[in-house]
Amino acid sequence: MRQWWKWSIYAGSIAAFIGSASFTIYCAWKVYAYHQPGKEAAEEAENNAYHFVLVPEELDNDYWRLVEQGAKAAAKETRVSLEYVGPRQANMDEHIRILEKAAASKVDGIMTQGLTEKEFTPVINHIVEKNIPVVTIDTDAPTSKRTAYIGTDNYYAGFIAGRALAEDMRGKANVAIITGSLTASHQQLRVQGFKDAVKKEKGIRIVAIEESHITRVQAAEKAYSILKKHPEVNAFYGTSALDAIGIAKVIEQFHREKETYIIGFDTLPETIHYLRKGTIHATVVQEPYEMGYRAVKMMVDILNGKNVPSVTNTETKVIRKQDLPLRPARNYEVEHD
Ligand code: BGC
Repeated sequence: MRQWWKWSIYAGSIAAFIGSASFTIYCAWKVYAYHQPGKEAAEEAENNAYHFVLVPEELDNDYWRLVEQGAKAAAKETRVSLEYVGPRQANMDEHIRILEKAAASKVDGIMTQGLTEKEFTPVINHIVEKNIPVVTIDTDAPTSKRTAYIGTDNYYAGFIAGRALAEDMRGKANVAIITGSLTASHQQLRVQGFKDAVKKEKGIRIVAIEESHITRVQAAEKAYSILKKHPEVNAFYGTSALDAIGIAKVIEQFHREKETYIIGFDTLPETIHYLRKGTIHATVVQEPYEMGYRAVKMMVDILNGKNVPSVTNTETKVIRKQDLPLRPARNYEVEHD
């Protein structure tokens, strides 16, 4: 009798062990299968109506992360699968190669910048000839066959930066400009608008102009060498998102915060930090989230045969410390995943 009890306890424990082990294996398999990125992405792409590609000039840039976030939000609402691909560091040749690659794959629409008419118009036209519509974003290539542009009026943005500097410096300043690129058209337009805005100011001199290649390190290096060569410089204008940040770092190192004015572009967290501190005095606000969001919606409209305006300019304004919102808004902070 005792033997019988013993065996049934053994058998019961073995059955319980097998049962719980298979349940654990089943659950683990479910979790594994659920987290297979390839499968999930493939399923998502299959269920989605369209497949778009967004190609920024620099992937790991907080400004472009905001564009990406806006585009992703719109993609979710419109059942679009969205790919965000581009050069890790700004590089026009690589940018063009990525566009050509996107055109060779079967995508329904491409959103990108028209950085220069000379290099970008042929590649945009080539994509359009393959029946893939292109929406330019942030920087236009107006003579290309792109269907629409959405973004800042870059000349106007430079112009209001020039007016703000002239006003804040009461018409007297020795200015150095640090621009993201001497050849890209959004940067050229921002410099031209600025120059035109200060043209009539007798007391404003533009002493130097240098290129940062869209990096805060090079913006800092250029600010440093300008100050060494031209100690009379008492105002800086940075024309892309990372320039004023690099300039501010150097101004603090030189302890020249009190006698140097800085105006930059965009509202990245570091820009806001220096603006609150008073090292940066003013910045031109753009609407990167809005650009991404509306570009995706526009592309869906184009594919659905609706008419879209050829040019849509998003809001651009200059803000100073006193204009900062009390709480961050979506154009002011980047949410990292
Ligand atoms: C420009 C972008 C550029 C970024 C670089 C922004 O001000 O609008 O085109 O890529 O700066 O940091």
